[in-house]
Amino acid sequence: MNSAILANFAYIVAAVLFIYGLKELGSPATARRGNIISSVGMLIAIVVTLAAQGIIDFRWIAIGMLIGGIIGVLAARLVAMTAMPEMVALFNGFGGLASLLVGWAALYGSSVSEFTIVTIVLSVLIGGVTFTGSMIAWAKLNERITGKPIMFPGQSIVNALLMAAILVCAVLFAYEPANVNFLYAIIVMSFIFGVMFVIPIGGGDMPVVISLLNSYSGLAACAAGFAIDNLLLIVAGALVGAAGIILTGIMCKAMNRSLGNVLFSGFGSATASGGGETGEVKPISAEDAYYILEAASSVLVVPGYGMAVAQAQHVLKELQGLLEKNDCEVVYGVHPVAGRMPGHMNVLLAEADVSYDALLEMDEVNQKMETYDVAIVVGANDVVNPSAREDESSAIYGMPIINVDYAQTVFVLKRSMAAGFAGLQNPLFFKPNTRMLFGDAKESIGAVVREFSG
Ligand code: TAP
Repeated sequence: MNSAILANFAYIVAAVLFIYGLKELGSPATARRGNIISSVGMLIAIVVTLAAQGIIDFRWIAIGMLIGGIIGVLAARLVAMTAMPEMVALFNGFGGLASLLVGWAALYGSSVSEFTIVTIVLSVLIGGVTFTGSMIAWAKLNERITGKPIMFPGQSIVNALLMAAILVCAVLFAYEPANVNFLYAIIVMSFIFGVMFVIPIGGGDMPVVISLLNSYSGLAACAAGFAIDNLLLIVAGALVGAAGIILTGIMCKAMNRSLGNVLFSGFGSATASGGGETGEVKPISAEDAYYILEAASSVLVVPGYGMAVAQAQHVLKELQGLLEKNDCEVVYGVHPVAGRMPGHMNVLLAEADVSYDALLEMDEVNQKMETYDVAIVVGANDVVNPSAREDESSAIYGMPIINVDYAQTVFVLKRSMAAGFAGLQNPLFFKPNTRMLFGDAKESIGAVVREFSG
């Protein structure tokens, strides 16, 4: 068997591992295994590519892998869970930049056909947009630049002109590939376009944008795969492209918003103060909360972004243990867009060793809502806002929510009456069966735990 056939066979094995790994990533219970399986696929891909090509100095590869590996391990260990979307933004950005460089390098390959030129332009263009777009997304999340949408008069005209200029340069480059200046112009303009694409989007919508850019980084890799005629890069790029766009769709659906609305409405500015709901708010002390919980036989916990901020998952698990000892059933209702990234709550709860069986989906808990004695809302706001169900004028009207207000009693754990991500007032806080336990979620739950222990 010659080496090309062997390499292709190994590529098929790697592609199968990628697909199986992706499937396993679909559930928290198997996600870790999925990650390892995909990594093994990638290792096979790298080793086989290097061995089959035989054109690369392994010292450079080893140095690159070592530096990249150290940065990766440090980043993964040091990054806070709340900063995970920022890290993914950086990964996407560098993935896009890598595809840009691969596409560019393909220009200096032995045979550069017209098709190759097209794929080079695509990988450079999509890779460039992904790179700077992701950097802006990172800067917005990191608050290095304002999270508010940045808009100026004539923005769409500037974008249209930029796009037209890119197209003209692409056509000219296809006619005259020897004139690399056209490619340089495409690179520069794609960088500018990436910035222009992301600045008008509000900081709060960055997770959706990051998922979309993740998809773009896959498309750029796919185009680079065509440019260097590497089957596995094409397959891997297509998988990332498809997975990213599916995830983007899931997020938009869970927020009941279209992708167009996310990209062009400037929604994520989160400056609106909302419906100005007034009414009586009933604060409660940790001690009173304890008395009610002690008598409860079923409790639903609904975590949200505030749980991540407070890092309250461990003490929550402690409370779960105490309640269960007291013959109370405890389940968690996880909204698909609770927090700031897909699976945010699942990851945090898994970190605190909460069993997967205790995590229920939104529809399941909604069906049984009247049967819960107490629903404890831990730093969630928009995902439990009844306006989404009741108020047609609300910006989140139609978004599926967890109907905690139908539970017998609701405890809302947050620090103040401040709005959540969507910037809207929440009528839940004024419902007759709601009690507000004000304070940092970790401290409030800690206080209830102390009451139990005492
Ligand atoms: P939010 O609506 O953002 O509400 C979080 C609440 O947590 C705030 O009202 C805040 O109130 C409270 N909080 C903050 N720090 C706290 C602390 N240390 N202790 C206690 N409470 C604290 O969160 P949510 O309900 O999870 O909804 C998520 C939102 O993000 C949705 O609007 C969703 O559309 C959006 N979004 C999500 C995603 C993904 S993929 N998850 C992507 C894009 C957008 P105080 O300041 O008063 O404490």
